[in-house]
Amino acid sequence: MEHTTAIFPVEPSAQYRWWHHGIIYQVYPRSFQDSNGDGVGDLKGIITRLDYLQWLGVDCLWLSPIFPSPMADFGYDISDYRGIHPLFGNMEDFDELLSEVHERGMKLLLDLVPNHTSDQHPWFLESRSSRDNPRRDWYIWHDGKADGSVPNNWLSVFGGPAWEWDTHTGQYYYHAFLKEQPDLNWRNPEVQQAMLDVMRFWLEKGVDGFRVDVMWHMIKDSQLRDNPPVPNAPGDPANPLYDDYLPVYSTDQPEVHQIVRMMRELTDAYDDRLLIGEIYLPIPKLVTYYGQNNSGAHLPFNFQLLTLPWNSREIASAIDAYEGALPAGSWPNWVLSNHDKPRIASRLGLSQARIAAMLLLTLRGTPTIYYGDEIGMTDVPIPMDEIVDPQGLNMPDMNVSRDPCRTPMQWSPEINAGFSARKPWLRLPYNAARVNVEKQKNDTHSMLSFYRKLIDMRKKSAALSVGSYSPVYSDGQLISYLRQEYDETFLIILNLSHRPAYFRPQNTSYNGIIKLSTEEERIGMHVANVITLAGDEGLLVQIDN
Ligand code: NOJ
Repeated sequence: MEHTTAIFPVEPSAQYRWWHHGIIYQVYPRSFQDSNGDGVGDLKGIITRLDYLQWLGVDCLWLSPIFPSPMADFGYDISDYRGIHPLFGNMEDFDELLSEVHERGMKLLLDLVPNHTSDQHPWFLESRSSRDNPRRDWYIWHDGKADGSVPNNWLSVFGGPAWEWDTHTGQYYYHAFLKEQPDLNWRNPEVQQAMLDVMRFWLEKGVDGFRVDVMWHMIKDSQLRDNPPVPNAPGDPANPLYDDYLPVYSTDQPEVHQIVRMMRELTDAYDDRLLIGEIYLPIPKLVTYYGQNNSGAHLPFNFQLLTLPWNSREIASAIDAYEGALPAGSWPNWVLSNHDKPRIASRLGLSQARIAAMLLLTLRGTPTIYYGDEIGMTDVPIPMDEIVDPQGLNMPDMNVSRDPCRTPMQWSPEINAGFSARKPWLRLPYNAARVNVEKQKNDTHSMLSFYRKLIDMRKKSAALSVGSYSPVYSDGQLISYLRQEYDETFLIILNLSHRPAYFRPQNTSYNGIIKLSTEEERIGMHVANVITLAGDEGLLVQIDN
């Protein structure tokens, strides 16, 4: 099986850019490949694995942050936006990585974290040094209430109040995440220009775009009004949690779209670059981030498959609601897992993880794969005394640590799964010698082989990569839809339940050949009319012309 860049029966028309038909792969650099034996992944390590990614068939790597950082939030607290953290290597390594990625015809996206810096960033050190420092207004400072208490009721996503008292200057500063991650004041034009300069720096180097961290957080209500409580929230009023309030004033403010537009304009000033926004919002709000006349993010990340219950009716209606809400000329995208949420195989089990992979790679829209999902990696149980994620440490009773989904990539049966010569920063699962790339590579029944076949089919088919989507029907067990382009039509039927199911569309029938199935023995069989599926089965049927 040879992977080349999308081989279509007929070239898709020029209106499609690489990210329309490409597949994105998220690399969590700490955990991908360690090259220097310190137990933490690095850029040189990633370079040694590029051939694997090319073999897998993905088109674009997105790297979680690799910049200098005190690592209070594992790199999402940046102290220098233009450097490389020594843990990951240096700028020479980065340049080499970029050119090696490009040499293979792939793209590289960086993680831009514009909403907040580290509290060790020189901008914040200046800002907190005195009330009249020229950078004071680069962050969100406010007096306390008359009794000295916090300016409003906003909470940190990671627990506790979002305001931190600064004794030296006698004011509070706002931090949506850790107190070590003060939020920038994006209403200040100097902040805007400084961050656009950061983008320019990397775009000039040739990176292919950015995934923008918490894009919907960037602007807050100018009056800092209290967020309203969620009606009947189950939480403890004495100890409220972030989810007990509706963040209607602390996030998703109308002015954010001007900021996104500025970022997009800059991105578009360079050839063929991509702007993705990390946004957790309901569909009607999410799609506003495409911007008026598509002047916003190219792809506001669509996390529905990651947040919704795995229920056929819910998933089917969410797909259709999303398709229906997309603004004219915008392009969809789908994400199954990331470094903040439990892995797909842990949420659904391994059999349904294959169905999820089929869904991700046969829906209309750019798919993002999280490293390790292609071998069915599951969340690794991390003993309490080994938890390092601040979200887990701050809320110890809630089992919300993100460490389990960030463990090292399992490459081989060797020591530390081939990830590192030394003890890795997070432990591996006990079954790592059994569940790894090397074992699965030559096993035609493995999750890895299944992913690779799916990717290969998608890349070779205009219908599957850029073709139209139309729902057929869904019921309490299955969902089904068509993908079509030129004279090629695929019917996808996915059984989201463990019990056998019958595909019985009303007033019509479909005849075709099974091109891919979770039950490999069925590949090549002809099906017609009522199609019977096993529990946990997914079918990709090429419809007869
Ligand atoms: C979203 C990132 O994905 C997450 O890992 C991080 O903790 C927060 N943003 C804060 O930057």
